[in-house]
Amino acid sequence: MGRGSSVGRLEEAPEVVEFFTRMDHLASLGMVDPCFRTVEGPAAGTVNIGGRTLINFSCYNYLGLAGDPRVKRAAQDAIERFGTSASASRLASGERPLHRELEQALAAFLGVEDAMVFTAGYATNVAVLGHILGARDLVIHDEFAHNSILLGCQMSRAKRLSFSHNDLAALDDLLRRNRADADKALIVVEGAYSMDGDYPNLPRLVSLARQHNASIFVDEAHSLGVMGRTGRGIGEHFAIEREAVDLWMGTLSKSLASVGGYVAGSRRLIHYLKYTVPGFVFSAGMSPADAVAALTALRLIEQEPWRVAKLMDNTRLFLAEARAAGLDTGLSRDTAVVPVIVRDSVRCLRLSAELFEEGINVFPMIYPAVAEDQARLRFFISAEHTTEHLCKAVGTVARLLRAGGPLGATQE
Ligand SMILES: Cc1ncc(COP(=O)(O)O)c(C=O)c1O
Repeated sequence: MGRGSSVGRLEEAPEVVEFFTRMDHLASLGMVDPCFRTVEGPAAGTVNIGGRTLINFSCYNYLGLAGDPRVKRAAQDAIERFGTSASASRLASGERPLHRELEQALAAFLGVEDAMVFTAGYATNVAVLGHILGARDLVIHDEFAHNSILLGCQMSRAKRLSFSHNDLAALDDLLRRNRADADKALIVVEGAYSMDGDYPNLPRLVSLARQHNASIFVDEAHSLGVMGRTGRGIGEHFAIEREAVDLWMGTLSKSLASVGGYVAGSRRLIHYLKYTVPGFVFSAGMSPADAVAALTALRLIEQEPWRVAKLMDNTRLFLAEARAAGLDTGLSRDTAVVPVIVRDSVRCLRLSAELFEEGINVFPMIYPAVAEDQARLRFFISAEHTTEHLCKAVGTVARLLRAGGPLGATQE
């Protein structure tokens, strides 16, 4: 029995009431809710909203492949041939050739033995982490790890610790003090962090893991297709031996122009996971259209290396322009995520609305998603952006920020 006041209906729960109080407060300040806007057509360098074309910085279509005619055609053909659904778990009901082709192509692209795909990146982390760890294990993750990583770790019942962002000395210290008490120890990091656009020192992390007999899981949601000369992610960026990381995880919803997630690693480990991860075994397989969209995008990344090169050029240009304009881009480097830190949620919301009016679509990250003094606009750069898009965005942000006076907490 709970000891709080009894709540009979879910919609009357205190957290629901608190949510609406917060929304009402923002509305009373004249804020327009930027969530759930209706987007016409695919989103990449530009996007169509409400009949207007805006320069778009709010999606993860990093390589501009989500609207590519060849990707669309492949998905249409797959629907014709296989229908719209896998209609059951692949383990129980059988799979389509596209499922295995995608897994083998992902494994080959990454230079590992095998891979398995899930229907969402989020579900991949929850299902895999929740399954491979148990109550006698230790998991240590970066404090900025994605919510799906946290949930997977919590579900596993392993002892869960976190270290300050990218602070490998702190990780070393936690391993030193806690490793001996656990059976398995897993370190979980991201290949690129989506709030800050920075990344861990993977070679040093690998050597720490070896020292402490720990395993490594790297979430490449924002590094696949982005980092490394040919888009093979943080492993390529640092020329890491592939076997040094136990599981390379990634999503299909960003550079790969589809929806879903994967883990990749040794044949033995992937084989075990395919037969035992409940979120895979008891869940319907990916739709044929989604699988082939990702497969086609992956092939195009290999055939058209200019996409990764263009994305990197665009990111460097945007970052250099933003810094030159005096914007606070935090820790961002070498990735396609560039924050502009505003340090005030209300001002950040307002700035995003003003930019929207000026034809620039960029989503605000405000409290409680980030600490109040970390409120920011997050720019996701795409290979489809032109120099003009990037320079116009930086110029407009800088002008609007200057017009609003010095940064600091809003007096409201
Ligand atoms: C680091 C990270 N992992 C996992 C996910 C979940 O992936 P998906 O949106 O494809 O389900 C995201 C989503 O943005 C992410 O940023």
